[in-house]
Amino acid sequence: MPGVVIVGAQWGDEGKGKITDLLAEQAGMIVRFQGGNNAGHTIVRGGKEFKFHLIPSGILYPEKTSVIGNGVVLDPRVLLGEIDGLKRTGIDVSNLRISANAHLIMPYHVLLDTAGETKLGKLSIGTTRRGIGPCYADKALRLGIRVQDLLDEKILRTKIRAALGSKQQALRELSVQRRKLRKEASEEESATLEEMPDPRLDVHTMVEEHINYGHRLEPHIADTARLCWDELDRGGTVIFEGAQATLLDLDHGTYPFVTSSNPIAGAACVGAGIGPADIDQVWGIAKAYATRVGAGPFPTELHDEIGERMVDQGHEFGTTTGRRRRTGWMDLVALRYAVRLNRMDSLAITKLDVLRGLGSLRVAVRYRSKEGAVLDSFPYHQSILHSATPEYEDLPGFDEDIGGCREEGDLPTAARDYLGFIAEFVGVPVRLVGVGPDRDQTISIDS
Ligand code: IMP
Repeated sequence: MPGVVIVGAQWGDEGKGKITDLLAEQAGMIVRFQGGNNAGHTIVRGGKEFKFHLIPSGILYPEKTSVIGNGVVLDPRVLLGEIDGLKRTGIDVSNLRISANAHLIMPYHVLLDTAGETKLGKLSIGTTRRGIGPCYADKALRLGIRVQDLLDEKILRTKIRAALGSKQQALRELSVQRRKLRKEASEEESATLEEMPDPRLDVHTMVEEHINYGHRLEPHIADTARLCWDELDRGGTVIFEGAQATLLDLDHGTYPFVTSSNPIAGAACVGAGIGPADIDQVWGIAKAYATRVGAGPFPTELHDEIGERMVDQGHEFGTTTGRRRRTGWMDLVALRYAVRLNRMDSLAITKLDVLRGLGSLRVAVRYRSKEGAVLDSFPYHQSILHSATPEYEDLPGFDEDIGGCREEGDLPTAARDYLGFIAEFVGVPVRLVGVGPDRDQTISIDS
């Protein structure tokens, strides 16, 4: 399996980290190709929990190369925090490589993300406020700062000045907002605060801070596309790990309620620097039900006790922001769309154990538009999707604890039939099933 792409098939948080960690056993290199520290993967190994936002899930195999590809946007402060955290737990990070072409999330991107969301008010996207959108916007505007710029103070200073130049108006508005906030603070607090410029926006401080980050990251900075080619050309296996998921894709997701990058399989080529012919397998990861964080359409969303139980049983709170996730039934209309868009050839269904004891299991098999039309495929028009209602097939549920099942045959018939229905409907085999958080709690299905 030389070039393997792993993508989220729903709205994120499908448990990609765990599946990547499993598949990484057979790989020499694991590459993240988009997104930033808006992502969060939790991997549980031997009862110990590891949380990552930026570092690829493969880092738990110190002998393998973990790559942050050019398509990622990287907050150096966050990355260094993760590196330090891993070192503290005794994990060797010397094989971490960072693309010199990856863009940096700068302090003003984080501020602008929050300001943008506040300005949108009721129309806000519910971003993670980590500066993702503004950073990708600067990349497209050719005003971005790249990892390689950390190694040249003169260039860094010039580029920061240029990037800030175009943001003066927005940043001025932010200062006004801050001043207002300070006025509401106690007199003593505001007097001292008022005197201080926002240290995060002072060019000199920013340059100094970032040159320092550059010194620390330098041993990891590399031409990562070339590293991928070398590994693939020598017949090694490379895993391309997507963050977020298909329905959050900037082009193909539920725009504008999406992230600012392309988490679909095709984007692995751009975000890592490989060609389409380098991809041999595409894995889609889906939860046995559906969740979404932030705003945007979610046809199978539940607002009842079953939805609450999914939150409780599935611990559905964001790894990055701690926000409660919205929950709902498995949406096979959306999943079939994701399967085709990514041309998946294998599915991993995670968190099947969470469905225990919920009674009948519903899966959406079509939508109905406001006007009564039957919609068999995922509607491309935003207004239709927003008002579409799902129509369900009810499948038998199960009450058994499946956390100890290790083979397909150990699963209750209802659970097996549920997986069979999904595979049949979307036309792709389910080859891995998660029955609990630990990496051992996985069933591999030969097909
Ligand atoms: P942003 O990526 O921070 O700009 O947020 C845009 C949208 O993507 C929001 O609805 C976020 O909640 C969502 N989002 C971003 N990253 C993740 C993730 O890793 N899992 C789930 N949702 C995410």
